[in-house]
Amino acid sequence: MLTALEWVVTFFLGVHFGTPLAYYAYLRRVMERPWGIRLDDNYRPSMAVILPTFNESDIIEKRLDNIKQQEYPRELVEVIVVDSSSDETADIVKNWSKTNNDLCLKLVKQNDLKGKLHAMDMAIQKVSSNCRVAVFTDADAFWEPKALSKAARYFADLAVGALTACIRYGNAKDKLLENTYRDYHNFIHIAESKVHSTPVHNGPFVAVRMDLIREVGLPLFDGSDDSAFGSFVALRGYRALQVDDITVEEPFRGNQVLRKIRRAQHLLLIFKRIKSYTEERKLYRKSSFDRIWKLEWWLTILNPWLLLFGTGFLLFDVLLSRSLIGLTLLIVGLASLLSKTFRMWVFQQFYLIVAAIRNLWTKETMWRK
Ligand code: GDD
Ligand code: MN
Repeated sequence: MLTALEWVVTFFLGVHFGTPLAYYAYLRRVMERPWGIRLDDNYRPSMAVILPTFNESDIIEKRLDNIKQQEYPRELVEVIVVDSSSDETADIVKNWSKTNNDLCLKLVKQNDLKGKLHAMDMAIQKVSSNCRVAVFTDADAFWEPKALSKAARYFADLAVGALTACIRYGNAKDKLLENTYRDYHNFIHIAESKVHSTPVHNGPFVAVRMDLIREVGLPLFDGSDDSAFGSFVALRGYRALQVDDITVEEPFRGNQVLRKIRRAQHLLLIFKRIKSYTEERKLYRKSSFDRIWKLEWWLTILNPWLLLFGTGFLLFDVLLSRSLIGLTLLIVGLASLLSKTFRMWVFQQFYLIVAAIRNLWTKETMWRK
């Protein structure tokens, strides 16, 4: 017979692992669905590539070269760099632009350090009035040459409001299981997009229909970023997709653990705020995205704590009551850590928990390199 404590452990861990597993099983089935969107290969909207930079002198030239390699009519592309660097990034951009004057580039200087979101908001004010799609990106993202043209065809359908790409990590030493994490999340987010939309969007490539931004601006609150832009669109009833035919490469830079915690902090802030933000502006529209939102909200905000408390009670059970059932469960859990996917999952829960605690004193809206 299970003791009361063992029932609690079983319930906590059962829900913690059962919810994502059931969700995964459901998404595997919907993955086969068509997009339900009218794609048009000939649709060529004018696009603004928005690139905020903060001390990126070592990489910026490579990034601009990569943008220029886009196989998209050059007269339909403008690049807006918003720079707040204290290094030579701005000079490098100016020089690059002189030698590449066939590509329209606007350099905006953000004089006081107010963070990436503020920089992106400044860039929006500079977008040409005929521009149809804004594509936000990072200095260390590398796009495949057809990224823009592939994205364009989705925007032919007016139901599509935003779109993000799949991410791959371009580093062979993948100790932190980044690619296991990415493979899993790419799958989940593409499948969610088949149903309606995904709330999670990837900073290296977030395209948003300009009309939707012109209407009410970007969602401006602490932590708002890539995923907030996507969720804001989806909560307004438009499709916000992660598509399966565009992949962007991102290198490891700096301390990857701190970076993952910061990103988790932002994700938590977005999940806590963006729905009420949309409702307050009377923009919220009910759709089949609601169920996805609820589930992702649960998985991001509450589910990680069930693992923490479930494991805590389990250890308590084993150490204090010398429970055999508890010990068996603990051994099964430890043995499961041999699986990469399981380890990745546990790491991710750890980042989310640390992020929730860290959000109590810093929102990490500005970060240094
Ligand atoms: N202008 C400006 N001002 N740009 C900034 C600032 C700032 O204060 N802070 C960061 N940036 C720029 C960087 O130069 C880079 O081009 C981009 O914003 C992303 O910053 P990274 O330092 O590369 O951060 P990351 O690799 O961890 O980025 C990921 O997480 C962020 C959220 O924490 C990406 O998904 C980002 O898109 C996301 O914003
Ligand atoms: Mn980066």
